[in-house]
Amino acid sequence: MQPLPGAAPVVLRMRKHLAGVHLPRPDWPPGTRPAPFNPLAHPPAAHRLLAQAYEVGGGSVAGFAGWWKSVRTDNEYDPTLCFVAVAQDSGRMLGFAQCWTSDWIKDFVISPDFRRRGLGRALLLHVFHAFQRRGAREVALGVHADNPSGAVRLYRSLGMEVAEVRLPPA
Ligand SMILES: CC(C)(COP(=O)(O)OP(=O)(O)OC[C@H]1O[C@@H](n2cnc3c(N)ncnc32)[C@H](O)[C@@H]1OP(=O)(O)O)[C@@H](O)C(=O)NCCC(=O)NCCS
Repeated sequence: MQPLPGAAPVVLRMRKHLAGVHLPRPDWPPGTRPAPFNPLAHPPAAHRLLAQAYEVGGGSVAGFAGWWKSVRTDNEYDPTLCFVAVAQDSGRMLGFAQCWTSDWIKDFVISPDFRRRGLGRALLLHVFHAFQRRGAREVALGVHADNPSGAVRLYRSLGMEVAEVRLPPA
């Protein structure tokens, strides 16, 4: 059934079991690499990626100052749980994942000009490995069931399963 235009989206909580699971190594697309998150340098570029994605996806993100304050002052913020992928030559940020210490992936985005090349898969595997090293039994996220960029397919292809379906209020 197609959702009515303007109707609130169905949200899926998806999770990936990590305990005792063999995870493939990330296969970074040519010209890309992971980079340690630098809280003094990376937030503006991360915010730009999120703002671009929300613009198309129909949601919204606060302005930079409000967004970054809300992230860095949150009890569940840990800079080692922010993950960045960059272009090898220029250092431009191509992907960003921001996660909470509650084993939750809050935001996950790849630059529009670098999608469908395997970078989302590589960055998500990188995130899974980091949570597995921390001893997390699982890591989870929320996603709109009709995400237009195919996020649900990507998550399923990496073994994420639907743990909960949140229907919009009647
Ligand atoms: C969802 C998102 C992160 C995926 O990132 P991505 O880098 O495009 O992901 P991948 O390239 O690994 O995989 C996406 C698709 O490209 C395909 N692909 C991967 N490498 C490819 C290649 N070299 N050539 C052609 N297709 C390729 C994958 O098989 C996959 O196909 P499918 O959609 O038919 O299953 C990205 O689209 C995005 O940032 N969307 C906006 C933000 C968003 O909605 N985030 C999720 C919030 S929960």
